[in-house]
Amino acid sequence: MRFHTIIEPFRIHSVEAISFPDERQREAALVQAGYNLFGLRSEDVIIDLLTDSGTGAMSSRQWAGMMLGDESYAGSRSFDRFKTAVQDLTGFPEVIPTHQGRAAEKILFSETLSAGSIVPNNTHFDTTRANVEYQGAEALDLVVPEGRDPGSLHPFKGNLDVERLERTITDNGPARIPLVMVTVTNNSGGGQPVSLANLRAVRSVCDRYGLPLYLDACRFAENAYFIKLREEGQASRTPKEIAREMFSLADGCTFSAKKDGLANIGGFLAMRDTELARRCRNLLILTEGFPTYGGLAGYDLEAIAVGLEEVVDEEYLRYRIRSTAYLAEKVAGAGVPIVQPPGGHAVYLDAKRLLPHVPPSQYPAQALAVELYRQGGVRGVEIGSVMFGRAGPDGTEIPGPMELVRLAIPRRTYTQSHIDFVSEIVIATAERATEIRGLRMIEQAPWLRHFTARFEPV
Ligand code: F0G
Repeated sequence: MRFHTIIEPFRIHSVEAISFPDERQREAALVQAGYNLFGLRSEDVIIDLLTDSGTGAMSSRQWAGMMLGDESYAGSRSFDRFKTAVQDLTGFPEVIPTHQGRAAEKILFSETLSAGSIVPNNTHFDTTRANVEYQGAEALDLVVPEGRDPGSLHPFKGNLDVERLERTITDNGPARIPLVMVTVTNNSGGGQPVSLANLRAVRSVCDRYGLPLYLDACRFAENAYFIKLREEGQASRTPKEIAREMFSLADGCTFSAKKDGLANIGGFLAMRDTELARRCRNLLILTEGFPTYGGLAGYDLEAIAVGLEEVVDEEYLRYRIRSTAYLAEKVAGAGVPIVQPPGGHAVYLDAKRLLPHVPPSQYPAQALAVELYRQGGVRGVEIGSVMFGRAGPDGTEIPGPMELVRLAIPRRTYTQSHIDFVSEIVIATAERATEIRGLRMIEQAPWLRHFTARFEPV
């Protein structure tokens, strides 16, 4: 039978104390960090929703697996276990371990892109965009229009706009497009899923023009579970069967094991193309390490191999998706504008709607993120004009497409009462929205500026 209450499908085996900085300490920490929450020390934070990346709790099976880590430089047994787990899930024969997702991106793009190339994606994540642009190529975001509308209730707001994809290919010529990418789930667009129907449609466009399709598969399991819940005819399949079909439609993937690998570090690049894999491995040796460890310890490979099995467990995914929706329902129920429907790994607050008096040039989402920390020590992350704004031709800044604060939920880490606390802080902050003032950026790096930029209150 199905019970009404969905519980955390685990018992807590080991705990880590939370620190409780008071108001004065939080204010001092903000000043010290230049109002950039990446500059806070973890002891400054009460509930850390900066990212779901590498911040989750591993299972006792993963920790046990780590004890079996084979630290041989070459031919490690742990690599075989890792490779078998990746192949079993993805069907990709070539498996290249990397220390995290962006290393897989860097290697793939170094071997496939050149100046003037175009990479269509539903929405590039920040590191993916930066790695594309680093090759002198253009990162083109082609998410469906519903994906840019925080209020739209479309079930698959991560879908790639297939018509625009085809137009991009015919307008520019397939030769300029070395590969097409689809990010599952679409992190920068609100953690929204992509349907199987959309992946099939993208596949057929790629086939028509002979283009390879790669998944940015960081949150493939959450995407697969959304397909099970929302796509017609998928309800009776297991998440793993659905995930396998997703991968079967692609030629390869980049993957950060810090998300749906349920590990604290790691990633991989996997593909069908043996010749491309050979070139990627050569580069891997230059930057990451030998192809049987790729910048990871043997014990990391073990933890990921187990994580890839655990993440497709249906009880886990039911709890995971439901616990994110729980936070969304609480804050939206109190009238706080969020991206609807809630994503898999995070709730995205819509700062443009909550702070209409703060113009994009004063970074409303950054201002809101700072205020959540000030109010209750809750650390989220800005996904708006700090992350995605850029200089226009006349030097003035073109704002990002949305002004969001992402509250990303680490996997298997916080309980329902932690989340109740977060919603209390979000609601209290929203109640005093009219008092929140914007920020001025006083320091920035040439790329990925959001990590290190400094601000001062306007
Ligand atoms: N692609 C997506 C969709 C991501 O969300 C991330 C990381 C990466 C690629 C890069 O992976 O961090 O292992 O190098 N996202 C984290 C986040 C950092 O907070 O969303 P990485």
